[in-house]
Amino acid sequence: MAKYKIAWLPGDGVGNEVMECTRIVLDRLGFDAEYIHGDIGWEFWKSEGEALPERTKEMMKLTDCALFGAITSKPKEEAAMELTPELQDKGFVYFSPIVKLRQEFNLHTNLRPCKAYSGNPLNYKDEIDIAIFRENTEGMYGGVEFFPLPPDVFDVLDTNHPKMKKFTHHGVENIAMSTRIMTKHGCENIIRQAFEYAKKFDRKSVTVVDKPNVLRETGGLMIRTAREVAKNYPGIDLWETNIDAQCMWLVKNPEDYEVIVAENMFGDILSDLAAQLVGGLGFACSANIGDEYAVFEPTHGSAPKYFGQYKVNPTAMILTAKMMLDWLGESAMADRLEQAVCEVISERKVGTYDVGLDNTSLEVAEAIAEKL
Ligand code: IPM
Ligand code: MG
Repeated sequence: MAKYKIAWLPGDGVGNEVMECTRIVLDRLGFDAEYIHGDIGWEFWKSEGEALPERTKEMMKLTDCALFGAITSKPKEEAAMELTPELQDKGFVYFSPIVKLRQEFNLHTNLRPCKAYSGNPLNYKDEIDIAIFRENTEGMYGGVEFFPLPPDVFDVLDTNHPKMKKFTHHGVENIAMSTRIMTKHGCENIIRQAFEYAKKFDRKSVTVVDKPNVLRETGGLMIRTAREVAKNYPGIDLWETNIDAQCMWLVKNPEDYEVIVAENMFGDILSDLAAQLVGGLGFACSANIGDEYAVFEPTHGSAPKYFGQYKVNPTAMILTAKMMLDWLGESAMADRLEQAVCEVISERKVGTYDVGLDNTSLEVAEAIAEKL
C-alpha cells in the first residue's frame, strides 16, 4: 500500500496540463502515493448542475489531502445559460467549487507565499519574500447574499440601523446585498497562524491589512484581535495598514513585508498583486489548510485560451506540490523540489513564454525532474 492517498482534482482547462507536469516531478521525487481522480469543474456543472459532485467529496474524505488544478468560474446568469437543456430553469445555481471546498471542509487558512526566486527575469525586486495569510471561509466570501432583498430582512435592518433609511425609496426589489460576516474566532485563528509562521521562520513583522476606518465593525474586530494576539509574540512587530495603502506600498516597497494577514476578499486581492511582483500567476502557489485536511491549488485559473497548448508555466502548480509535501511532513522532499525549481529558474535555459523562453509546460517539468 502506498504511504499517502491523494485526491487528484485537475478540474478545467490548463489545470489538467499543470497537474500532468506535477505528476512527472512527484514521480521522479519518489513520492509514495496513490492518486485518486475526482470529478470537479465546469463539465460537471453543465451536465449535472453541480461543479463539485457529492461523490468527489466522499472520495476526498478517504484521502490525506487533495491536489487541485484549476476551475472555470462564471457569474450566475452566464453559468445558468451553459447548463444542458434538461437542467435549464430547474433552479440550479452555480457556486465556485473551490470556494465550496474551502467552506465545506473548513479549510480556514489560505497560505500564499510570494517569493522572488533568484534569476527570475520577472521579479519586480529580488528581495521579495512575503507569506500571505488569507482567511478562507468568512468575510465577503461567506455567501450570505440577497437579491432582491427579502422585505423582512430589510425590516430587521431598518429597525436596527439608522443608515438603512437612505435605501428605502429604492424598493427592496432594487436592492442587492452581500454581507461581510467576520467572527472573533475566524480573525483570531488566521492572525495566530500568521504569527506562528513568523515565529517559526524568524520573521520580524506581521502586517494586518483591513479598512477599519470605514468598515468599522468588521475591520475593527480584525485589528483589535490582531493587537490581542500580538501580545503573545513579543519579538514580532504588528503593523496595521489599510487595504488601499497596502496595495500601493506593496508596489513601492514590497521587500519591507514579511507576513501579511487579511480577511478573505482583501487577501484575495493582495495575493494577486503580490504574485505579480514575483513573476505573476505562473509562480503563485497556495494551500487551503484546515485542522485535518488541506487542498493545494495554484492561484491561477483555468486559462481556457491556452488550453491544449501546454503553454502555461507549471511552476505555480509544482511549488503547490512542494507546499503539500511540507504539510505532509515530507520536508526533505519539499526542499529538494524547491531547490530543483530554483535551479531551473536561475539557469534560464528552459522556461515557458511568460519568462521569455519558448518551452512547453512539459519541458519545464522535465527540466525540474532532471535536477532531481
Ligand atoms: C483565488 C481565486 C478564487 C477566489 C476564485 C476562482 C473563486 O481568485 O483562489 O484567489 O476568489 O478565491
Ligand atoms: Mg484570487
